[in-house]
Amino acid sequence: MTAPQAPHQTRTFQSVLVTGGAGFIGSHVVRTLLRNHEGIRIVNLDVLTYAGNLSNLRDVEGDARHTFVKGDIQDGALLAGLFEEHAFDAVVHLAAESHVDRSIENPLAFLETNILGTATLLNAAKTSWTARGCMETSLFYHISTDEVYGSLGEDGLFTETTPYDPRSPYSASKASSDHVVRAYHHTYGMPVVISNCSNNYGSHQFPEKLIPLMIRNIVEGRELPIYGEGVNVRDWLWVEDHAAAIDVILNRGWVGDTYNVGGLNEWRNIDLVHKLIELVDAKLGREHGQSKSLIRFVKDRAGHDMRYAIDASHLEARLGWKPSVTFEEGLAGTVDWYLENQDWLEEVTSGEYQKYYEAHYTNRG
Ligand code: NAD
Ligand code: DAU
Repeated sequence: MTAPQAPHQTRTFQSVLVTGGAGFIGSHVVRTLLRNHEGIRIVNLDVLTYAGNLSNLRDVEGDARHTFVKGDIQDGALLAGLFEEHAFDAVVHLAAESHVDRSIENPLAFLETNILGTATLLNAAKTSWTARGCMETSLFYHISTDEVYGSLGEDGLFTETTPYDPRSPYSASKASSDHVVRAYHHTYGMPVVISNCSNNYGSHQFPEKLIPLMIRNIVEGRELPIYGEGVNVRDWLWVEDHAAAIDVILNRGWVGDTYNVGGLNEWRNIDLVHKLIELVDAKLGREHGQSKSLIRFVKDRAGHDMRYAIDASHLEARLGWKPSVTFEEGLAGTVDWYLENQDWLEEVTSGEYQKYYEAHYTNRG
């Protein structure tokens, strides 16, 4: 294996292709890059699945440095045209099918988007950077997940050398895409970097994921489905801290390196749901703990990973990143955002999602 190499200096990419920039994390990444890099030009390629929504990007609509393109990362001809037109010197790849429950119901969509989509994108980058003779100065940055490492017992943390052991169709597809990215580095000399992050929370997250789903259901007085006994553990990181880490890694990450990103912030699902009940009930002036009666222990997720926890010390030691907010601050701000943005919730949860929600969350045994 080639040893990761430090960049000679902080890179300043001029023309960046961001994929999946209308999704939850991607929209925060677009905002962060525009805020921190005056001279940047971003093309944001997103096919707008149920999880992608242009209302996530309202505040950058007037920014001439940001161009939105509706399209699929599996469309090689479209990608070739975009590389030709915009001469990208970096790709920040977030587009993916991202929800584990959906991957259990429809694995093929995950394999297609996450593996074939990533491979198609890598191929377009390779073709363009080879033809333009700029392979060495370009960068393919792949955003991945801690789920590739499998599931932990009560102790221990995932490090960058933890062997891969993905266990859901989602994590298997992400693990495969990580391998394909590394293959392009080792086989074709493409400069790549990968980061594997823990569970994100914050504004603009589609309300099928635990935190926004629970906030929404508490507000509306709907049942709160807890899988199994609620003892599974996740490490939660504020999405804007993840976006800040992505910015740092894009500009200073060592070529060929991997960075784990996490919050050192482990919660059992049931404890987190109690915390959310406390926060939302207080904000709505309800009696303390009133919404606890909405909790329902439902059938467990198939193959449910027990615990994820991240050792992010490599990223801190090498690039100086660490989370900027406490979970108390981040979660309170997140609850406020969802309470103040009911119209956003309404907008993103109409249509296709509504059907999924009804099928998925009603009559659960
Ligand atoms: P998301 O589901 O909110 O957004 C994914 C975006 O990708 C959507 O805008 C969707 O329209 C777009 N997309 C899907 N298929 C596409 C295709 N074929 N072509 C173009 N665009 C397509 O996901 P997210 O939570 O923002 O996650 C973003 C990335 O970060 C994913 O790669 C995910 O694996 C990774 N990740 C997520 C988390 C998390 O906690 N959410 C943690 C670690 C890593
Ligand atoms: O660890 C990073 C991963 O975190 C990302 O790669 C994924 O894209 C992201 O979706 C997330 O995966 P999880 O499966 O951990 O997140 P989710 O919000 O779906 O579930 C969090 C935990 O809460 C998990 O143990 C399952 C449980 N859960 C979830 C839902 C939606 C419930 O108990 N009830 C629910 O209704």
